[in-house]
Amino acid sequence: MIVLTSNNDTTSSVRSCPRPLGLVPTMGALHEGHLALVRRARKENTSVAASIFVNPTQFGPEEDLATYPRDMDRDLALLESEGVDLVYAPTPEEVYPPGFDTRVDPGGMGQRLEGAARPGHFRGVATVVTKLLSVIKPERAYFGQKDGQQLAVIRQLERDLNLGVEIVAVPTVRDSDGLALSSRNAYLTPEQRRAAPVIYRALTQARQLWDEGERDAAVLRAAAHALLKAEPLLEEIDYVSVADADTLEEMGRIEGPAMVSTAARLGSTRLIDNVLLG
Ligand code: PAJ
Repeated sequence: MIVLTSNNDTTSSVRSCPRPLGLVPTMGALHEGHLALVRRARKENTSVAASIFVNPTQFGPEEDLATYPRDMDRDLALLESEGVDLVYAPTPEEVYPPGFDTRVDPGGMGQRLEGAARPGHFRGVATVVTKLLSVIKPERAYFGQKDGQQLAVIRQLERDLNLGVEIVAVPTVRDSDGLALSSRNAYLTPEQRRAAPVIYRALTQARQLWDEGERDAAVLRAAAHALLKAEPLLEEIDYVSVADADTLEEMGRIEGPAMVSTAARLGSTRLIDNVLLG
């Protein structure tokens, strides 16, 4: 496995990789969710590249950039054992050299839900993903359904800018109690960890109503919200959304495919999750 930190070396190394090449972008602190993306990429491509970069531009000033978990040696060992061919792990200076002044702005879709709670977040994501795709030039790039809005933003980015890469969505990997795996779960105290599965239970409750034929989005939102509210350790519920799966516009009556999503805070840890309908 080749590990590279500079853009130029990476671009010339990937040129000699047998195609098709699949890319798995990550911020490291890898868990089984990330590895599901790597395994899918390994199955579908001749070569696999992964990136590890804790992207400063997608963190707000009050967010956890400084404390975000980092363990490069462990991450590299995991990627090597999954048969990854190349890892791109640049420094912030390599990605954002002096004079860097371009941003990729995902527009309206980047301003709803997570975008409203985290201003500028999706501009940071869209900018870095555009750069990663330009440096590595994969045929396919793999993203988790866990970050459902990020996936929708990246699909639109690919479409709008004709990036010519196939965006592949991988289902959310969960613990046995339903909690979606996330690097940020490491911040939870044991007590908070025991309460955290309520998030998936609330989403599942909404999905069950939909399964039973309910098509009024407000009814689903209210049911999920009530379950979340009943958990005293959930200190803040940012939103419960039932939105069009492609545009992420809130729905009244649920007609096409929809995404039910929520963001809530357990202590200082903000967790997000979603399920798809239809
Ligand atoms: P990160 O949070 O490290 O996640 C990397 C990829 O793993 C994302 O596509 C994310 O959706 C996926 N992922 C995380 N947890 C998952 C789970 N439980 N099941 C399935 N997939 C999961 O998302 C980012 O990094 C960054 O925003 C990035 C795209 C790398 C840009 O900086």
